[in-house]
Amino acid sequence: MSAPDYWRSQPVIPVVVINDSANAVQLARTLVDAGLLKIEITLRTEAALKSIELIANEVPEAIVGAGTVVNEKTAQSALNAGAKYLVSPGATPSVLASLDATKLPYLPGAATVSEALLLVEHGISTAKFFPAVESGGIAWLKAVSSVIPQLSFCPTGGISPSNYQDFLALPNVACVGGSWVAPSKLIAEQNWTEISKLSNAVFNNENNGK
Ligand code: 3PG
Repeated sequence: MSAPDYWRSQPVIPVVVINDSANAVQLARTLVDAGLLKIEITLRTEAALKSIELIANEVPEAIVGAGTVVNEKTAQSALNAGAKYLVSPGATPSVLASLDATKLPYLPGAATVSEALLLVEHGISTAKFFPAVESGGIAWLKAVSSVIPQLSFCPTGGISPSNYQDFLALPNVACVGGSWVAPSKLIAEQNWTEISKLSNAVFNNENNGK
């Protein structure tokens, strides 16, 4: 599932690598207070599933999702932990089947035209474009837009304060994801003031850009 409005409703999704689940709830509250409800917790650390569970249970305003879903095990674990949506860096047939089985909204990954076409054949309307900058960035998205205009993307990988608005200006970009909004180092330092500043800046720029 990948209804375009679901992904267009929040232009910037914080992509989080969290190393200690004790920081999860305060992190989510900080992001939610800044208006960033969708939060992607990547399944790259031991603390990720517990963090999703804590946020799902204790911060009901947050829309917590799981990133780095790469197989059936990670898809099911994320579902069981309370994830509201899933994000995968790629999209093999078995990954797609695992994502479908959860019945959650999801973003499958693509970085080539053939991968993008396979997703269209699967009925997908919004895909993750990863790694975005390394795979061709804005030029790639513009070129693909002219041949597969019906597919929108959420670019992630290399998205930063200096380029995210250029990505969001493209008609085939539904949203972007990035770790700059809540960097692991600031989370580990429990520097909620700085994360609040970074996330408020995103939200204000989003509104100013409309
Ligand atoms: C992702 O998981 O989507 C990306 O690794 C985030 O990339 P970034 O750290 O360059 O924002």
